[in-house]
Amino acid sequence: MPSTTSHAFAEQQELVLHVNGERQVLAGVDARTTLLDLLRERLDLTGAKKGCNRGECGACTVLLDGQRVNGCLVLAASTDGREVTTVEGLADGDALHPVQQAFIDHDAFQCGYCTPGQVISAVACIAEGHAGSAAEIREWMSGNLCRCSAYPQIVEAVQAAAAHA
Ligand code: FES
Ligand code: FES
Repeated sequence: MPSTTSHAFAEQQELVLHVNGERQVLAGVDARTTLLDLLRERLDLTGAKKGCNRGECGACTVLLDGQRVNGCLVLAASTDGREVTTVEGLADGDALHPVQQAFIDHDAFQCGYCTPGQVISAVACIAEGHAGSAAEIREWMSGNLCRCSAYPQIVEAVQAAAAHA
C-alpha cells in the first residue's frame, strides 16, 4: 500500500491554462508533471524540445506570462490560470514571427533541435531590451545552448529582428 506521502505526490488535479491564446481545461494532471511534458504529451505541442530535462540547455524554453522559463523546471500545477506561449503560437497565420523569419534569413540553425527554444528566448530577449549589441545578446541568450554551434548566425538573427522591433 502506498504511503501517504507518495499518494500526495501522485495526486491528480484539473488545470485551466491559456496556451497560445486558447483556453485549455485539462483533467487528471499528475502533480509531478512538468509544463514541458504537459505541452508535449497532453497538448501535442512538440515545438519545445526536451534536451537535458534539468534546466541546463534551454531547448524547452517557453513564455509563461511573457517571461521565458525552462518548461522542464516548471511544474504544470503552478501554471494554473496563466498564459503560456510556445513556438507554435508565434506565427500569425501563414506569416512567420519576425524572429522566426530572421532565423531563416540568417541561416541560424543546423539540426534545428535548439531552434524553438532559441526563437522563444530571442523574442523575450528583444522584448526585455537586452538585444542592444552582440555582446548583450550573447549574455542574455546564454541559457540557450546549441550543439551545432550556430551561435554567430543566431546572434545576427536576433540583432536583425531587434533592429526591426
Ligand atoms: S530540457 Fe529544459 S533546460 Fe534542457
Ligand atoms: S541547431 Fe543543432 S543544436 Fe542548435
